[in-house]
Amino acid sequence: MPDDPLAADAGRTRTGALPIAGRDLSLGRDGRMLVDRVSLAVGTPGVTALLGPNGAGKSLLLRMMAGLIAPDGGAVTWAGRSPDRARAHLVGVVFHRPVMLRRSALDNVRFALKAAGVPRSERRDRAMAALASGGLDPLASTPARVLSGGEQQRLALVRAMATGPEALLLDEATAHLDPASALAIETLVLKARDGGAAVLLVTHDLTQARRLADRVVCLHGGGLEADLAADAFFRGPPAGPARAFVEGRLVA
Ligand SMILES: Nc1ncnc2c1ncn2[C@@H]1O[C@H](COP(=O)(O)OP(=O)(O)OP(=O)(O)O)[C@@H](O)[C@H]1O
Ligand SMILES: [Mg+2]
Repeated sequence: MPDDPLAADAGRTRTGALPIAGRDLSLGRDGRMLVDRVSLAVGTPGVTALLGPNGAGKSLLLRMMAGLIAPDGGAVTWAGRSPDRARAHLVGVVFHRPVMLRRSALDNVRFALKAAGVPRSERRDRAMAALASGGLDPLASTPARVLSGGEQQRLALVRAMATGPEALLLDEATAHLDPASALAIETLVLKARDGGAAVLLVTHDLTQARRLADRVVCLHGGGLEADLAADAFFRGPPAGPARAFVEGRLVA
């Protein structure tokens, strides 16, 4: 089945991480299905927006794709194999409340490079270049935890991008940011995309999804409601919860 994006698993490089594919992913807690047989693959450069109302299962799906939680049913593969720590630097993950080490902004990036196996002699220059790409070089020696929320978000993305990831999984990376800070993040996301990364972006900001996305995936009640090219989605999402969500109607 050559048209099946999930079939792209087969025969890819065994050292990379793409495609990141979830097949029939299910997750339940306390007798409730939170994610219900969702299949999703991101494998080509571009931005996939993951939309859906609060509680739809977006963050859980993203965490499963990132290899951070194991599904109860189905499986996640990176380039055809189970996620593993050795390739974690190829899959950048940023949450909207990033966890920063109690060190300078520079050292946070250096630490990520160390974890990715970058030789010590290269780390400082690469970290400074990464900070500069996000306009954070003036804050290199500032303790990361005293940076503003928007600066920390940008640092988290810069840190994730410094190791040259093939994929970026972003969970509301611009939530609570002012327009300029959100724009700075979006610029970094587009830079990663232009560099060939596959980006999966959870957002509640439909204008952001219109600006960035090539493809839109919509979740509702733990199930996949739509998976369409962005222009087709915004021209007229299919009937049902995905349409109601985009039109701003209440979805039960
Ligand atoms: N550990 C858990 N135990 C029980 N229920 C959970 C657990 N984690 C998440 N849930 C529930 O699973 C559902 C999906 O959660 P998830 O965080 O994926 O939603 P979301 O789509 O990211 O929502 P939001 O837009 O509010 O961030 C929610 O109803 C949540 O309460
Ligand atoms: Mg969430």
